[in-house]
Amino acid sequence: MKAEHQNLYQPHKGGTLCKMLFPVLLLTLFFPLGHAQSSMSPEFSIIKPRHSRLLKSALQRETSAFLLSDPWAPLENQGWRSCVESRNGPALPEKSEGYIQVFLDGGLNQQRMGICDAVAVAKILNATLVIPYLEVNPVWKDSSSFEDIYDVDHFIDVLKDDVSIVKELPEEYSWSTREYYATAIRDNRIKVAPVHASANWYLENVLPVLRSYGVAAISPFSHRLSFDNLPMDIQRLRCKVNFQALTFVPHIRTLGDALISRLRYPQDPLKVTAAGDKEMAGKFVVLHLRFDKDMAAHSACDFGGGKAEKLALAKYRQVIWQGRVLNSQFTDEELRSLGRCPMTPEEVGLLLAALGFDNSTRLYLASHKVYGGEARISTLRELFPLMEDKKNLASSEERSQIKGKASLLAAVDYYVGMHSDIFISASPGNMHNAMVGHRTYLNLKTIKPSMALMGQLFLNKNISWSDFQQSVVEGHQNRQGQIRLRKPKQSIYTYPAPDCMCQA
Ligand SMILES: *[C@@H]1O[C@H](CO)[C@@H](O)[C@H](O)[C@H]1NC(C)=O
Ligand SMILES: *[C@@H]1O[C@H](CO)[C@@H](O)[C@H](O)[C@H]1NC(C)=O
Ligand SMILES: *[C@@H]1O[C@H](CO)[C@@H](O)[C@H](O)[C@H]1NC(C)=O
Repeated sequence: MKAEHQNLYQPHKGGTLCKMLFPVLLLTLFFPLGHAQSSMSPEFSIIKPRHSRLLKSALQRETSAFLLSDPWAPLENQGWRSCVESRNGPALPEKSEGYIQVFLDGGLNQQRMGICDAVAVAKILNATLVIPYLEVNPVWKDSSSFEDIYDVDHFIDVLKDDVSIVKELPEEYSWSTREYYATAIRDNRIKVAPVHASANWYLENVLPVLRSYGVAAISPFSHRLSFDNLPMDIQRLRCKVNFQALTFVPHIRTLGDALISRLRYPQDPLKVTAAGDKEMAGKFVVLHLRFDKDMAAHSACDFGGGKAEKLALAKYRQVIWQGRVLNSQFTDEELRSLGRCPMTPEEVGLLLAALGFDNSTRLYLASHKVYGGEARISTLRELFPLMEDKKNLASSEERSQIKGKASLLAAVDYYVGMHSDIFISASPGNMHNAMVGHRTYLNLKTIKPSMALMGQLFLNKNISWSDFQQSVVEGHQNRQGQIRLRKPKQSIYTYPAPDCMCQA
């Protein structure tokens, strides 16, 4: 059981778990043209709270005596600090071996990991990196480039002593474009990089291409560099890219700062910047709630929407995955006790209430689309009436630059998430992993729900609020951002210690 739910936090283990975590990824493989977004369907008319007994107690916030600790208390110093250096590894070579180009799939967070790996590969090869090309994801359809999301000059400058990076290829290589590789087989395109390839693989297979052609294009590149058996300076460089070199463009940061100040100073957001009065600042929780139809359907769990919802999800599974969703061979109870069901907004609300967050808690909802919409959110809103999101905190003018752009919207949520007192995700996934890693690096509190525990508690329809609360509190005592050392195969971007952090 234990091993089972740890796997949930570890992408790319393969098999069904992997599929559960990446329904959208799968979708892109089978449905390259995307699919029609379902609009409001009849299946939502009957969404009711599923745990009404718990909900009733939670609304009254019966506090139990054992809840001694303040849920807002920041993490104590755990004795770890960053050990990323101003220069990691040998100085820049006198002569570059050539240019590395990478083309990155996925959403914001998957691409982010690809960028970090690309810098590391360029360092391994003594090559010059061309600013990575971000592919348009067929589901999210955001065509934002690297420069649209990240501060490119800052990126190049922070890494200038580690790797040389250029915005564009020089004139003599201007033929090396995405179209060039998309239209025919090209000898300088590396198409076969294995998942989690070693440094030696790159030295043996890519260096010769660089030397013959001057430029090597690696695609696909996501998850193509191992997390294990790499020199320490390469690991540290990857962390440096992730935690220091990648900053969002100014307009994302400005919008993020505005949202943060409205969350911290709801009465008088203008006062903030001037005074910076820490005493007055209110605290807030960021809840990443990914609960979209892909995920709901893929999990094959029952979400309380009755027969109509069950049918709708079954139909969706049939159309999109054509019977390849292995979860559907399990019953809802089995899936729940294995921790394979994403928590609904109601369930994550109960989790937060049990941890001691009361109805004066300011909650920022970072999410893209909630399956069931307001019908499903309303229970969460009942528990946390001070719930906000980008839409009601920012004016439409402020949002105009990011409107409809999934990566930029996610970037704002990432930025706000990094500045929150508490971050929690309703289900594991790329955003959750990215936040866990980045917040661990800065010793910030991040609640990692125990999906298996929650699944089991929710199955017990008779459980009293105080038993529920006690189990939740105890089960999450050590899931709030305490340092966990990376194990082999785990991502350095989720578990930055001990590769990039040292004991102080
Ligand atoms: C919070 O709960 C208390 C008591 O349970 C209630 O009196 C109060 O009105 C609630 N506040 C909000 C903002 O709903
Ligand atoms: C890269 O450059 C460094 C320093 O110039 C050198 O020690 C190293 O052997 C080079 N690596 C390769 C793969 O050429
Ligand atoms: C729930 O509680 C009732 C009354 O206390 C009891 O009769 C019933 O067996 C319990 N059900 C379960 C599933 O524990």
